Amino acid sequence: MDQAVGLRKKENYEMEVHSAIPAAVSALQKPVRVMTVSSGKGGVGKSNVVINLSIALCRMGFRALILDADLGLANIDVLLGLTPKYNMSHVLNGQKKLEDVLIDGPGGVRIMPASSGIQELTRLTDDQKLLFLELLDGLETDIDMLIIDTGAGISDTVLYFNLAANERIIVVTPEPTSLTDAYALIKVLYSRHSERHFRILINSASGEAMGKSIFAKLSKVADHFLDGISLDYLGTIPHDTAVTKSVLQQRPLLEAFPEAPASKAFRQVAETICRSRPNVNQGTIQFFWKRLLNV
Ligand SMILES: Nc1ncnc2c1ncn2[C@@H]1O[C@H](COP(=O)(O)OP(=O)(O)O)[C@@H](O)[C@H]1O
Ligand SMILES: [Mg+2]
Repeated sequence: MDQAVGLRKKENYEMEVHSAIPAAVSALQKPVRVMTVSSGKGGVGKSNVVINLSIALCRMGFRALILDADLGLANIDVLLGLTPKYNMSHVLNGQKKLEDVLIDGPGGVRIMPASSGIQELTRLTDDQKLLFLELLDGLETDIDMLIIDTGAGISDTVLYFNLAANERIIVVTPEPTSLTDAYALIKVLYSRHSERHFRILINSASGEAMGKSIFAKLSKVADHFLDGISLDYLGTIPHDTAVTKSVLQQRPLLEAFPEAPASKAFRQVAETICRSRPNVNQGTIQFFWKRLLNV
C-alpha cells in the first residue's frame, strides 16, 4: 500500500513537472504574433481598426506595438494627435536608437512611425539589414503583438508585409468596390504567393447580419475561384458616428466613447483574436523581419 502511495506521488510529481515544462518553455519562447491590417480600397477604416484593436489588446494584458507602414495621408499619429519627431528612417541611417523613435500612445500602445523608412527598408544593403535586425532584437522580449497598418492596395510594400506576417486581417466595408478590391488583394496574395489564410473584418456595416452577409459574398467568390483558400470571419464593426467624432477629436474611439457600439465590437474582435491560434506556424519576430528583408 505504501508502495502504491509512493507510486501515485511519483506519478503526480511527474505529471506536474511534465505539464510545467511546456508552460515554461512557451513562456520563454513566447512567439510574437505579427499581424497585418490591409484592404483593397483606401478609407475603409484600417487605421482606426489598428488603433482600437491594439488598445483593446493592451487592456487584455498584451503588449501591442503598432507599425505604421501606410505611406498614405491619414496616418496613425495624425489620428492620435501625436507628432513624432523621428521615424524608422532615423533608425535605419543610425541617427537614432529604436527606443528614441518608438512613441508611447494612448491606452498603453506603442507606435513605430515608419513613413519614408518603409521605402528605405526595401533598399537596404545586406549589412544595413543585419544592423537593423540587431537593433530590433531587443523588441522580442518587450512586445506580444506587432500590428501593422499596411495601407491599401496591392503595392509591393503591402504585399511584402502581408507575406512576412503570421496573420492577415483584411478590412472590408459594404461598398461594392471595397469588396472587389479586397478580392483583388486576396487573389494576388493567393495566386502569386500561395497565401491561403485570411481573416476578414467587416467595418461600417449596419450590423452583424449585414457584416455576415458581406463575408458570405466574399467567401463564396473566393471559394469558387481560389482552390484551397481559407477565409475566416473575424467580426463586424458597426457604422457608428462615435468613430467619426473620435477621429475629429484625435482620440481613440475606445477612450473617447468606450460604451459606443463600435467600441464594444472592437473589444469582441480583440477577444476573438486572443482565443484564436493562427493556423500557420508562428515564428519569432526575428523571423518576421528576416522574411520581410529577405535576409
Ligand atoms: N465604423 C465606422 N463608423 C463610422 N465611420 C467610420 C468607421 N470606420 C471608419 N470610419 C470613417 O472612415 C474614415 C477613414 O478611416 P481610416 O481608419 O482613416 O481608414 P483607412 O486607414 O482605411 O484609410 C474615418 O476617418 C472615419 O471617419
Ligand atoms: Mg489609414
